[in-house]
Amino acid sequence: MSGILVLHSIIRWGVLLCGIWVIANAITGIISKRAFSSNDDRSNLFFMIFCDVQLLFGLILLFTNGWIDKIKSGMGELMKDPYNRFFVVEHGMMMIVALILVHIGRSKVKKASPESKHKKMLLFFGIAILLIIISIPWPNKAIVGRPMMSWFN
Ligand code: HEM
Repeated sequence: MSGILVLHSIIRWGVLLCGIWVIANAITGIISKRAFSSNDDRSNLFFMIFCDVQLLFGLILLFTNGWIDKIKSGMGELMKDPYNRFFVVEHGMMMIVALILVHIGRSKVKKASPESKHKKMLLFFGIAILLIIISIPWPNKAIVGRPMMSWFN
């Protein structure tokens, strides 16, 4: 198994832990009506960095692990195969949409009025995290399921 695939598999846990941190901050911020803090900003930043690293490794995998050859041999054929369709279209595209939301969300939170920052954080990052969770190839997913943790051989 390629080292990049192992890193991509492990870093998913960093994405998810930072995602929980962001959502916990957003919800407690809304409930307690506290001011937006440096801890809130740090959680958003770390979440975005982990997502960007996943994008980088995901693109490397796409270009180096034989997926481009499958795309070149025709999208029609690729779409007929649920395994290939999942990794190239469903996983790849959905994660990119989630990452765009994370970047837009971070800029919207920065520009928002002090009383709406936590709400914006919950909206943009919450949708992004949901998209990420449903697009991960969890072990129980038929055909495309992968282990909860891959490790270097
Ligand atoms: C937050 C974003 C992402 C997460 C959490 C994530 C998570 C994962 C996981 C858990 C796997 C299976 C690893 C294993 O086999 O153990 C995987 C595989 C894969 N991911 Fe992602 N991913 C993300 C973003 C992306 C993006 C943006 C792309 C492409 C543009 C991408 C492309 C791929 C590909 C091509 C594979 C299959 C690699 C192979 O077996 O050759 N991923 N991803």
